[in-house]
Amino acid sequence: MTAIVLYCRPGFEKECGAEIQEKAAWNEMYGYLELKKNQGLVFFHLHDGSHGEALMKNLPLKRLIFARQWFVTLTEKIDLPDYNRVEAIVDALGNEWQYDDLRMEMADTNDGKALSKFCRKLAVPLRQGLRKVKVLTDKQSKTDVNQDGAILHALFLTGQTVVLGFSLARNSSNHVMGIPRLKFPSQSPSRSTLKLDEAFLHFIPKDEWETRLTSGMNAVDLGSAPGGWTYQLVRRGMMVTAIDNGPMAESLMETGQVKHKMMDGFKYVPMKQNVYWLVCDMIEKPQRVAKLMAEWLLNGYCKEAMFNLKLPMKGRYQQVTDDLQSIKDAFSQHNMTYELYAKHLYYDREEITVHARLLSPLPQK
Ligand SMILES: C[S@@+](CC[C@H](N)C(=O)[O-])C[C@H]1O[C@@H](n2cnc3c(N)ncnc32)[C@H](O)[C@@H]1O
Repeated sequence: MTAIVLYCRPGFEKECGAEIQEKAAWNEMYGYLELKKNQGLVFFHLHDGSHGEALMKNLPLKRLIFARQWFVTLTEKIDLPDYNRVEAIVDALGNEWQYDDLRMEMADTNDGKALSKFCRKLAVPLRQGLRKVKVLTDKQSKTDVNQDGAILHALFLTGQTVVLGFSLARNSSNHVMGIPRLKFPSQSPSRSTLKLDEAFLHFIPKDEWETRLTSGMNAVDLGSAPGGWTYQLVRRGMMVTAIDNGPMAESLMETGQVKHKMMDGFKYVPMKQNVYWLVCDMIEKPQRVAKLMAEWLLNGYCKEAMFNLKLPMKGRYQQVTDDLQSIKDAFSQHNMTYELYAKHLYYDREEITVHARLLSPLPQK
């Protein structure tokens, strides 16, 4: 039976499952869920096997909030022998299809971490074995991944059990298990800096950074203290107005690129319409933040917004859907076309990150 396997943050399997089930149903594809509780793994077993590949073609991964990565299964769970594991995997795959890359994956848990050493060791002979039978194409450079190609996933549930599957390169994450490993910059005053770093990498295509994420731009950071997000803007050469009643790190103030205003982020209005980026990490009710972000964009106070919406303890998927819908409704009421994407990023915890921008010009006032 074919399944779509989705990777999410451990503890968020219910949300990830509810989302794939709902979005598959929009495409008239149905199935049942097998959640691996606290392992960050969801199996969505499809009633019609042909729907696996169809869903991966029709539903963009970037439309899913809680899934970091996914693949469609090629095999059931395979029990591996103690010896000749490579042969067992090569045999199970056959040689009908070709893949451009192999991802060795496991749950994002402590048990999974323990497995990763075993997987690293097995990866070398497995790649060789798969290349020999031409199931894996010859090595490509990391920057030259064939966007029309497919990626082979080997998900190790234990050292003896593996599930094999594939994803489409153009509709999957470039990162193993959808996890980018970012280095914490020692000059940053807080670890939250990694959230904004990951958000820019995730939402803004690198070849557009020169025009959308560049030196000389003005930015506003709401809820900025102590300055982890401001640090990401400063290091990209932007001038930042930082709004928070709490203190900002001295090192950032010394750059001369930061103006700190001690005031309520809900009351601040920029004097000039020259702000490109609005970023917001205020710990506040998500409904309030969503409304504020829509207002900033619709008033032309900023061109693009990157912000967090805190997740409630219960009913998280419903709450997120409602918050995003409120932003979409506000844009639609003004007949605006827009881009709005949300993701539960790797460095997010009890929040999701949202990117929004209007695509149609605002009416002249
Ligand atoms: C998670 S921290 C921000 C961390 C920051 N992004 C960083 O990377 O260092 C949340 C901040 O929001 C601020 N905050 C909460 N409500 C606020 C409001 N209404 N106006 C301004 N700041 C607010 C808090 O003072 C706190 O410093």
